[in-house]
Amino acid sequence: MQKFELNLKETRHTIPLWVGTDLWPTLRQYLGAHYQGRTLFLISDSRVGSLYRRTVLENLSEFFPEEHFILFPEGEASKSREQLARLQDMLLEHKAGRDTLLLALGGGVSGDLVGFLAATLHRGVDLIHLPTSLLAQVDSSIGGKVGINHPVGKNLIGAFYQPRAIFTDIRFLDTLAEEEYLNGLGEVIKYAAILDGELWTWLEKEREKILQRDSAILEKIVARCVELKIAVVEKDEKESRYRSILNFGHTVGHAIEKLSHYEVKHGFAVAAGMKIAARLSNQLLGLPRSWVNRLDQLLEAYRLNRTNLADFSLDQLWNVLLTDKKSRRQHPHFTLLKAPQQAELFYPVQKEELERALSAF
Ligand SMILES: NC(=O)c1ccc[n+]([C@@H]2O[C@H](COP(=O)([O-])OP(=O)(O)OC[C@H]3O[C@@H](n4cnc5c(N)ncnc54)[C@H](O)[C@@H]3O)[C@@H](O)[C@H]2O)c1
Repeated sequence: MQKFELNLKETRHTIPLWVGTDLWPTLRQYLGAHYQGRTLFLISDSRVGSLYRRTVLENLSEFFPEEHFILFPEGEASKSREQLARLQDMLLEHKAGRDTLLLALGGGVSGDLVGFLAATLHRGVDLIHLPTSLLAQVDSSIGGKVGINHPVGKNLIGAFYQPRAIFTDIRFLDTLAEEEYLNGLGEVIKYAAILDGELWTWLEKEREKILQRDSAILEKIVARCVELKIAVVEKDEKESRYRSILNFGHTVGHAIEKLSHYEVKHGFAVAAGMKIAARLSNQLLGLPRSWVNRLDQLLEAYRLNRTNLADFSLDQLWNVLLTDKKSRRQHPHFTLLKAPQQAELFYPVQKEELERALSAF
């Protein structure tokens, strides 16, 4: 087990984050020390909730009654105003007061939805994240972005709201579906590309073990990604500038998600986005072609190379890119790489440059 700390300068707030296997005793101890006698609710999606209901109740029953274990339907559609209102109604009917602690058990959907619920109930009640998908463990549980979707677009209603603590138990990954696991690996490859050459080497060398979810290597990888995300968030909590380093592959990735009506999962869309960003980086900033090939091979090795870019026309992609919130003066702005692990932020890209990158496959 490893313990990390996320130190937020603005609010002088320190968030402990544990990574390990079987963290239930650690969580019990933490709740005993900080939340004895308080009102606790554990909220999870229907899939994770039914898989782990028994384990949760066995380990945490002294802290809350069974009716405080609340489920919402699994899936992105639950990040909605309707689901938020339903949960708000349930909590208030159960007399959740200002001393309430919400435990968000699940993937990024649970973290975002329950996080926003915690941010808005009584103007903010305590929150603990128990991330269960690889994507939530390495990315969405850290950094305080919470929110829901709007029919107009994803994540349009939200807040920055930090949890009190995060417990990242690798054992949860045992039950994760293969597609969801690979989806999370897309973000892991991104961290390696932008920030960490050693992580990149592990990914290249330990493919078999990683795909088999060997717990020792997984713990090492999740812990490393957690450390990398913490370092980025500590430098730029509210995404003023530096945090956009994490957007490598995301500009085109988001466009692909949107154009596919979210049929293409985030990690797979980001994988395609990284391939394009790497080609742009080669054309515009001299990123070595040999490294672009290594990125392609890594994405292939982790079965992330499955979006057919020919499905999207240049005009379609360009029009969506112009609506991206990071576009300025009619140019989308990309996070690119001058060299492996050396990012260039907010690089303005012209339509002809994107066209060239798309033809470089
Ligand atoms: N807040 C942020 O900074 C941030 C960052 C990235 C993504 N996100 C958001 O995260 C969401 C995507 O996250 P996600 O991919 O985890 O989606 P998710 O929460 O829907 O989880 C994906 C699927 O895996 C299942 N699942 C999760 N953990 C499991 C486990 N241990 N065993 C079995 N099944 C399990 C879920 O029930 C669901 O069916 C999106 O809404 C995205 O906008 C937020």
